[in-house]
Amino acid sequence: MQVIETIAAFRQVRSRYTGLGFVPTMGYLHEGHLSLVHRAKEECGAVAVSIFVNPTQFGPNEDFAGYPRDPKRDLELLEKEQVDLVFTPSPGEIYPPGSTTVVEVGDVTEMLEGAARPGHFRGVATIVCKLFNIVQASRAYFGQKDDERRAAVVLYRALTAAEKHFGAGERSSEALRRIMHDTLATEPQADIEYISLADRDTLRELDRVPPRGALASLAMRIGKTRLIDNCILEK
Ligand code: PAF
Repeated sequence: MQVIETIAAFRQVRSRYTGLGFVPTMGYLHEGHLSLVHRAKEECGAVAVSIFVNPTQFGPNEDFAGYPRDPKRDLELLEKEQVDLVFTPSPGEIYPPGSTTVVEVGDVTEMLEGAARPGHFRGVATIVCKLFNIVQASRAYFGQKDDERRAAVVLYRALTAAEKHFGAGERSSEALRRIMHDTLATEPQADIEYISLADRDTLRELDRVPPRGALASLAMRIGKTRLIDNCILEK
């Protein structure tokens, strides 16, 4: 496994590979990340992982400095998985002084998490675009949710309740939102931010769940901690 810190060095080493699978991460790796690495390995053979806590996707009230980091453990885990390349740039390597170019994706980034965290997806789209340009992968692998926050069992219970009723034939979005709401409301400390049942691609709220299913997503606060989770409702 090669651990590379600069763009120039990464480009040089990368040219030896064809068909690279790429897993972008912010480190502090867990099972979710490793499952993406397995999949990349199966489908592409060679795998590159980036570890970069991207400052531009954190809002002014979000704790960039406090984001958990454990680079030593991350590298040990990736070594065990026989990852080929690990890219660990510094913030200055990715955002040199004076860099002002950003990637703005309209519409879908203004809803749900985008509405709650203005500027977040500008930061995500910008770093992902930069990493894609550097890594030049054939395929990239992203997780669907932040496992680190799954501790909030009530979110999981709310989504499971929605899945159960959906499985039993419920298609009214209002009814499914109410089911999720009622489950969240059993947690007295939960301060609900949004309960959404939206189209899987456009993220627009739905009146009824169409045959191809929908994205159910939730955000709430317990004390100072903000928790999110989501699932796809499909047959
Ligand atoms: O979801 C994440 O881990 C991050 O947002 C990503 C895609 C690695 C970009 O920093």
